[in-house]
Amino acid sequence: MQVETVNLNPDEMPRQWYNILADIKINPPLGPDGTPITPESLAPVFPMNLIEQEVSTERWIDIPEDVLKVYSIWRPSPLVRAVALEKALGTPAHIYFKNESVSPPGSHKPNTSVAQVYYNKVFGIKKLTTETGAGQWGAALAFACSQFGLECKIYMVRISYDQKPYRKAQMQVWGGVCVASPSNETNAGRAILEKDPTTPGSLGIAISEAVEAAVSDRTGKTRYTLGSVLNHVMLHQTIIGLEAKLQMEKFGEYPDVIVGCAGGGSNFAGLTFPFVYDKMHGKQIDIYPVEPAACPTLTRGAFVYDHGDTAGYTPLLAMYSLGHDFVPPPVHSGGLRYHGMAPTVSQLASEGLITPTSATQVEAFKAGTMFARTLGIIPAPESNHAIAQVIKEAIKAKETGEKKVILFNLSGHGLLDLGSYEKYFANELQDYVLEDSVLKDAEKIFEAFPKPKILKSI
Ligand SMILES: Cc1ncc(COP(=O)(O)O)c(C=O)c1O
Repeated sequence: MQVETVNLNPDEMPRQWYNILADIKINPPLGPDGTPITPESLAPVFPMNLIEQEVSTERWIDIPEDVLKVYSIWRPSPLVRAVALEKALGTPAHIYFKNESVSPPGSHKPNTSVAQVYYNKVFGIKKLTTETGAGQWGAALAFACSQFGLECKIYMVRISYDQKPYRKAQMQVWGGVCVASPSNETNAGRAILEKDPTTPGSLGIAISEAVEAAVSDRTGKTRYTLGSVLNHVMLHQTIIGLEAKLQMEKFGEYPDVIVGCAGGGSNFAGLTFPFVYDKMHGKQIDIYPVEPAACPTLTRGAFVYDHGDTAGYTPLLAMYSLGHDFVPPPVHSGGLRYHGMAPTVSQLASEGLITPTSATQVEAFKAGTMFARTLGIIPAPESNHAIAQVIKEAIKAKETGEKKVILFNLSGHGLLDLGSYEKYFANELQDYVLEDSVLKDAEKIFEAFPKPKILKSI
């Protein structure tokens, strides 16, 4: 057998999401005057039902029936034991992955886009705006909007727009309108283009554009959606870890090591948060978020208050950051090119409950190619970062002879990222290592903002 697969019957599906804010404390988001923002101040940007979820500290939140119905198109997603990869590595470790690439857009992102579109629709919203990096989030939002009949406008980071033309077509199929960011359509976009007409763009810039487009719409029926970072996004993604727990039980195993790639933190959070709960209650688990060495937010950034976007439209969030005006090098994992990290994931890192690590893009593509050649599935470049860490852990287990159980998130497939693989095979991929001067420049930005408090959850 190359793989062993376990799935859940539809009646075994989790019917609630897990909210980690019942179990950890985070520093609150701050407004321009340095005081905590009120839910009302977010009302032009998000619908109130999602704002309530954003600030909720209830441990379990019911998944609405209409969301479960759309989830049933691809959920429960399979939990797979990667037997052929274990054999190829000659490791005594058991390697499991949660296959989130089976969703219609090809990634974990619809776990939250479906929920967000549902809550917006219930609130009477007709149109949604968003940013997208690799295009996975934009595609996931367009898919969800097509399920619930909402309009959708997507600002796609320029470098990915050029690298991945079929993503735009995918969004179009589902009725979404996609433009390259920075664009000439917003004040934020025009200001950046004036400074640097050839900028590759960044998620921070695209967020500024999408927020501006939502709040400046006069109908009052447009809102903004974010594919990562925020508490409600992490919440919706926990369906991954909750399913995985039940599936691991069917295999009769429990993970010693859990790995997820981390851009804004949502697929990592989705898989790991239900297990972080166990760790806080005594389980021994090594939990690794893996980021690109070119954009090492958790591994080299500072735990500070910073804006989530480049123009400074968003509240100040307590998170690890490389500075909100940092434009990451054009690595081929567009979804990992983000200067910040989810406040919940940042809090866990600041408390030492998770162990951030990084991989270079060449290392990541090498790992992804080994995965594809043993198991067939071609992973997304983002997911390759997780696989690089899994392979390191499996080799460590081989050296020590330990039968470790490793679980990771295959956050997406790479079938629309084949251009990046082509460049890898032509030896055209460059490894970028972040210069210390970037970190020094960022320190100057953070001086103007309050400092987060040191909080302890356990
Ligand atoms: C396949 C895939 N994995 C991972 C990510 C990173 O995002 P996050 O850290 O929020 O999971 C993205 C983002 O676009 C993605 O498309």
